Amino acid sequence: MASTLAFSIAASILLQPVVGTNTGTVHCADATYQPGSVYFSDQCYNDIQSCITKLAANASVVDCNGANISMQQQANTGAVGSAQNSDISVSFKSMVDLCLLSGSTSGTWGWSDNQWYWLWTGGSCYSSSGGSDTMPTRPAPYCLQDRDSSLPDCYPQPSPGGGPLKVLKTAKTTNGFTSSARGWNTYGAQALTNGSTLIPSFAGQSGLYYTQKFVETQCGVLANSKFKAAGFDMCSLDSGWQSFDEVDNNGRIIYNDTRFDMPKLGPWLHNQDLKLGLYITPGVPCQAANKTILGTDITVGSVFNGNFDQILCQFDYSKDGVQQWHDSVVDLWASWGVDMIKLDYITPGSPQNGAMLGCQNSDAVVAYQKAIAKTGKDIRLNISWKLCRNETWLPVWNGLAESMRTDQDINNYGHETFLAWSVAQRAIDNYRQYIGLQAQQNKPITIYPDMDNLFAANAERLTGVNDSMRTTVMNHWLGAGANLILGNDLTQTDDLGYKLLTSSQSTAAANFFAKYPMQPRNPRTGNNLAQQLQAWIGGPSDNGKEAYVLIANYGPDQGSGGFGTHLYGRQAVTVSLAGLGLSCSGWKFTDVWSGNSTHVNNYYTAYLTEGESQLLHLTKG
Ligand SMILES: *[C@@H]1O[C@H](CO)[C@@H](O)[C@H](O)[C@H]1NC(C)=O
Ligand SMILES: *[C@@H]1O[C@H](CO)[C@@H](O)[C@H](O)[C@H]1NC(C)=O
Ligand SMILES: *[C@@H]1O[C@H](CO)[C@@H](O)[C@H](O)[C@H]1NC(C)=O
Ligand SMILES: *[C@@H]1O[C@H](CO)[C@@H](O)[C@H](O)[C@H]1NC(C)=O
Ligand SMILES: *[C@@H]1O[C@H](CO)[C@@H](O)[C@H](O)[C@H]1NC(C)=O
Ligand SMILES: *[C@@H]1O[C@H](CO)[C@@H](O)[C@H](O)[C@H]1NC(C)=O
Ligand SMILES: *[C@@H]1O[C@H](CO)[C@@H](O)[C@H](O)[C@H]1NC(C)=O
Ligand SMILES: *[C@@H]1O[C@H](CO)[C@@H](O)[C@H](O)[C@H]1NC(C)=O
Ligand SMILES: *[C@@H]1O[C@H](CO)[C@@H](O)[C@H](O)[C@H]1NC(C)=O
Repeated sequence: MASTLAFSIAASILLQPVVGTNTGTVHCADATYQPGSVYFSDQCYNDIQSCITKLAANASVVDCNGANISMQQQANTGAVGSAQNSDISVSFKSMVDLCLLSGSTSGTWGWSDNQWYWLWTGGSCYSSSGGSDTMPTRPAPYCLQDRDSSLPDCYPQPSPGGGPLKVLKTAKTTNGFTSSARGWNTYGAQALTNGSTLIPSFAGQSGLYYTQKFVETQCGVLANSKFKAAGFDMCSLDSGWQSFDEVDNNGRIIYNDTRFDMPKLGPWLHNQDLKLGLYITPGVPCQAANKTILGTDITVGSVFNGNFDQILCQFDYSKDGVQQWHDSVVDLWASWGVDMIKLDYITPGSPQNGAMLGCQNSDAVVAYQKAIAKTGKDIRLNISWKLCRNETWLPVWNGLAESMRTDQDINNYGHETFLAWSVAQRAIDNYRQYIGLQAQQNKPITIYPDMDNLFAANAERLTGVNDSMRTTVMNHWLGAGANLILGNDLTQTDDLGYKLLTSSQSTAAANFFAKYPMQPRNPRTGNNLAQQLQAWIGGPSDNGKEAYVLIANYGPDQGSGGFGTHLYGRQAVTVSLAGLGLSCSGWKFTDVWSGNSTHVNNYYTAYLTEGESQLLHLTKG
């Protein structure tokens, strides 16, 4: 699930407009020289480095000048201590890499985190003939995703639907899967404020610091007969298992051995018919630079692209050695028993969350996917987060992974519960947009949506929304054919939790939607726009005898529901067979959770309170 950096948890980023040539949040100006045609003086370079040291030491200092360079910083005075100018190194490094050494004589960096930096060089820093005291200029070696943009191009609305129903179907994913993953993930607990006091097995832990014992306690519950029968077998570890600044002799990513022993955890899980999932982000700890990639004589550092994105050193995917590195890493993890790799911070799309992400690092997904294929093992690839889903990128992800995140983190950051209803509304609307865009591809869907962790196991006190809303969440994650990876404390699963997750009707619905994901089909119009009172349909199945319908009242829009209306209290929501796109009449509607049923020849009305929904199994006859 989740998008935690090596150190922090989602920060809100201030958005302010910037003008200029756009390279991420670096804006190069005065493109004076053809990259490669001139050389940059070491003296100017060294003056810049000593100014960086001076400015970094004291956030109140504004100016620093060398003989032929000028620099300025404007710190974030609202922050405390070194946080005031925490972006100084990365900003000037990026301006040097992307502007000065590629022919632009000045650059600015801002406004994320309210910090602003500026750099100017005189023409005397450049010369047309190189010498031992110069470095060559060259085209920018990497590009940064704009941290100040919400990437509106990436998230178009689907065209309005209606008309005859086009049943949506899935086909095998790239690595050969025909359903989404079911299981549990650590991040729900990790993201809680005070998780340590709320989840007994998480006592003494927080954020990235969680233990193998915690994982074993939670995944031990998955091994019980109920979860097992319902196919919940994936034990998935989010960020924190890995070693952040140590690698093995071949520069491979390894586990933190003060808290984990993967060669024991993998087999321990497999002995109980459970599976192991591990989280990672593109790149490698920079400490790997001088190690030799397994089976080659290539050093890891020689295939970096120069972008240390504030998480890991990034690769130049065009270089020989990069694929071999990925192959060696996936082989190592496979030897521990890894069954799923969760690859976070993929762009375009992933919000930056403090990092300097490349404009597009989809090559990391390609490299992991190829490495997985080479192992010959059934390993899932789950990519994240809020991936770009326009006409350019959706087809790319469709061919590269088993599941893709459709929204930002679902966690109720800063609170002592897992979920806020406003965020559930947002997650559901993101699925609506996503599936509408998939439908426009006019072909079977070969990737499952990842709506992030599912919070359906625990009572309201922990989950944060009441039982009607919890059931509505379950209904939508089922209908979407989304990953059913729980974020809850499994040791506190209540009766409703077991029913929603492990009852035979739940499993039957999950299996159906894995083949026929639901699409919006609104009451009356049959269109696919966001509405507070919404209907969805999955199927009918190929034999025409079965379908599922979901009818919901999302309650007043709490800000990100996409529908913007505020109907309060119980509402009558009426669907017609024709409106749903069902051509023939005479269906039996059975409420999946209560089991009662009604014969419907024309209309069906549900009376739903705020946040309530009905999941209906339709059978012919
Ligand atoms: C899939 O992986 C991403 C990246 O780690 C993670 O954020 C997401 O929660 C995962 N999905 C589930 C359902 O665990
Ligand atoms: C930081 O710089 C400001 C402005 O130049 C100055 O007034 C202040 O004394 C400096 N602080 C330290 C600790 O040097
Ligand atoms: C600044 O540029 C002048 C030429 O205009 C040059 O002679 C001098 O060495 C440069 N000084 C530094 C510190 O770069
Ligand atoms: C999709 O978004 C990317 C990233 O913003 C952009 O480069 C590309 O042009 C967009 N494609 C379409 C079809 O809008
Ligand atoms: C977390 O626990 C601490 C100590 O028990 C308490 O002071 C703090 O208010 C709690 N945080 C929240 C968000 O309730
Ligand atoms: C491993 O985790 C411990 C905390 O349990 C931390 O102090 C240490 O720095 C971590 N080591 C690495 C290499 O990440
Ligand atoms: C790699 O080796 C070089 C040259 O010995 C050294 O300067 C550098 O610090 C080393 N880097 C790492 C990450 O060990
Ligand atoms: C099940 O019973 C409830 C309460 O009588 C009713 O409101 C609902 O419409 C029924 N559902 C179906 C599918 O018949
Ligand atoms: C859940 O909360 C909504 C909104 O407050 C309310 O309308 C609904 O009746 C509640 N459901 C339950 C089961 O408490």
